[in-house]
Amino acid sequence: MSGHGTPLPMTARKSPPLKGVAEVPGDKSVSHRALILGALAVGETRVTGLLEGEDVLDTAKAMRALGADVARQGPGEWSVHGVGTGGFAEPDNVIDCGNSGTGVRLIMGAMATSPITATFTGDASLRKRPMGRVTDPLALFGAEARGRKGGRLPLTLTGAADPVPVTYEVPVPSAQVKSAVLLAGLNAPGQTVVIEREATRDHTERMLRGFGAELSVEEDGPRRVITLTGQPELVAQTLAVPRDPSSAAFPVCAALIVPGSEVLVPGIGLNATRAGLFTTLLEMGADITFENRREEGGEPVADLRVRHSPLTGVEVPPERAASMIDEFPVLSALAAFAEGPTVMRGVKELRVKESDRIDAMARGLEACGITVEEEEDMLTVHGRGPDGVPGGATVASHLDHRIAMSFLCLGLGAQSPVRVDDASPIATSFPAFEALIGGLGGALSRSNS
Ligand code: S3P
Repeated sequence: MSGHGTPLPMTARKSPPLKGVAEVPGDKSVSHRALILGALAVGETRVTGLLEGEDVLDTAKAMRALGADVARQGPGEWSVHGVGTGGFAEPDNVIDCGNSGTGVRLIMGAMATSPITATFTGDASLRKRPMGRVTDPLALFGAEARGRKGGRLPLTLTGAADPVPVTYEVPVPSAQVKSAVLLAGLNAPGQTVVIEREATRDHTERMLRGFGAELSVEEDGPRRVITLTGQPELVAQTLAVPRDPSSAAFPVCAALIVPGSEVLVPGIGLNATRAGLFTTLLEMGADITFENRREEGGEPVADLRVRHSPLTGVEVPPERAASMIDEFPVLSALAAFAEGPTVMRGVKELRVKESDRIDAMARGLEACGITVEEEEDMLTVHGRGPDGVPGGATVASHLDHRIAMSFLCLGLGAQSPVRVDDASPIATSFPAFEALIGGLGGALSRSNS
């Protein structure tokens, strides 16, 4: 239930030191891609560590609707019998991607060069989000989209019967747009080229190579030119999904917020295109050690040991934004406990996430007694030190899992309890959040007080 049912208010209270091991779920980005590429490969793909959050389960359903055989074999263990590149069948009903922008955008890309028609929808949050950023480049392949005003969902996409390859420079830093174009390029003859001005998460590129596609990447400073040769035969794989750094961010920041804490967060993916939060936390003075560095499932991984530390506000450079785009909400909550201002620039993409995250964080922080400054592309949080965050408010989660979790982390260290009006969206990405934080000693309760 991600905001589709009865709201689930949740309260966080000042907590004793957090202690223990925080095993966070599988990476959401990697999980979506594993199902989609598995569905396009020939043979049986086996996935372990898959995130079983609502977003990914919606993608699994969509892959079934498009003709793949997707089955749960055990906790986090899934098998996908794919249909082969270009083999998607026309779904006989609307595809509902729930809360997931990644799901809907990647799936639209993957079907855009097959001669089928599909209608996509989602929850109230997803229906507000821009889809033109994906349907515009898909039109270059020959796909036709008809949505609501501004290209919003519900939207019907008819894939190109005779797709042509495309060269496309992504106008916004978005791994979803890049990935949609690459997935569409899979079933176009010849070479599809995607140019990004700033590097964004590269899981699609890594995984495409892993499934046997021919893909090259030329780097020129932050600019990347990705060339994919179309119509490969993708070969089924065995994939281990690393744990999600974006989910790890919550117990990591909670341990930094609550005095006396020491938490081990094992097996976290540290792909450089995702690890900007950890760089920022170290700059703020966080005591984090990266133990047992290794490679798992083609991604660099480490165990993170985090101890509560006094923190100082920092300026986050705009060129780092893409590598921590999902972590700004929890960084904003943490910044309230630092000494001095934390300035986050180059963050306007936050306005088109599951909610307008700049606005949602700014309003919630103000309600909790924190001074903020907000511009279209910037958020500054004026920290009040480790014991100086008043709290004592109810904040709105706006159907946004990361807003809900960020304010619950803030409440673990605030002087007065912080209530989130609806914590149910947390199930989209981190179903075990409440149990995990509770297991570390964090005081969360499902209450109206
Ligand atoms: C994602 C890309 C990012 C991120 C989202 C996951 C992905 O979105 O915010 O949570 O898996 O490709 P954008 O591509 O819109 O920046």
